[in-house]
Amino acid sequence: MQIKSAEFVMSNSNVAKCPKSMLPEYAFIGRSNVGKSSLINMLTGRRNLAKTSGRPGKTQLINHFLINKNWHLVDLPGYGYARVSKSAKKTFQKFITQYFLHREQLINAFVLIDIRHEPQTIDLEFMQWLGENGIPFSIIFTKADKLKANAITRHIEDYKSVLLNTWEEIPNYFITSSSKTIGKEEVLNFIEDINANMSTT
Ligand code: GTP
Ligand code: MG
Repeated sequence: MQIKSAEFVMSNSNVAKCPKSMLPEYAFIGRSNVGKSSLINMLTGRRNLAKTSGRPGKTQLINHFLINKNWHLVDLPGYGYARVSKSAKKTFQKFITQYFLHREQLINAFVLIDIRHEPQTIDLEFMQWLGENGIPFSIIFTKADKLKANAITRHIEDYKSVLLNTWEEIPNYFITSSSKTIGKEEVLNFIEDINANMSTT
């Protein structure tokens, strides 16, 4: 898919105030600092569309971006960031939970996982929760530039075997790097295929 336009629409902390249009929507979620905002910039080819930072906790709101005037990308705050205060964390968790439970336009959540790490309970639990609530998701492994090819293969195989403890099938997954622009076409084509199917059915 070619990205012809990518515009910031709005930020807020209340799912009820998100854009009313019924355009298909894709959200990026995962631990703080995993690379959600960077991935949005990489996919859209706009360096500063979503705000990024080396310090975790940068994205604090639900941010809608309108792509090619016909679908939305959503940047969300990270979960599991210890340095935000407990009350801030609770507020985040509340509106993220509300977003996933009530956003009818949400077609697919992309759960971002840092490819360098062992499977983390918080991510596995979050995917479990999405599954229990019938929210479709795919996995995006990030920061692939940080590992050599054989380590990538090994980490993916380890991740798959852990997923198979709870899932019958491995969800769709993508291997990406925002700094080296890896996985861009794969993710965009996946979105394009879903959008195309929706408009024909
Ligand atoms: P929060 O908004 O705090 O939840 O974080 P985020 O998940 O949006 O992460 P963000 O995109 O702000 O990136 C966090 C840090 O990781 C930044 O220093 C990025 O430059 C770095 N980063 C993101 N993606 C990649 C990548 O693919 N490769 C490398 N090497 N660094 C990356
Ligand atoms: Mg962010």
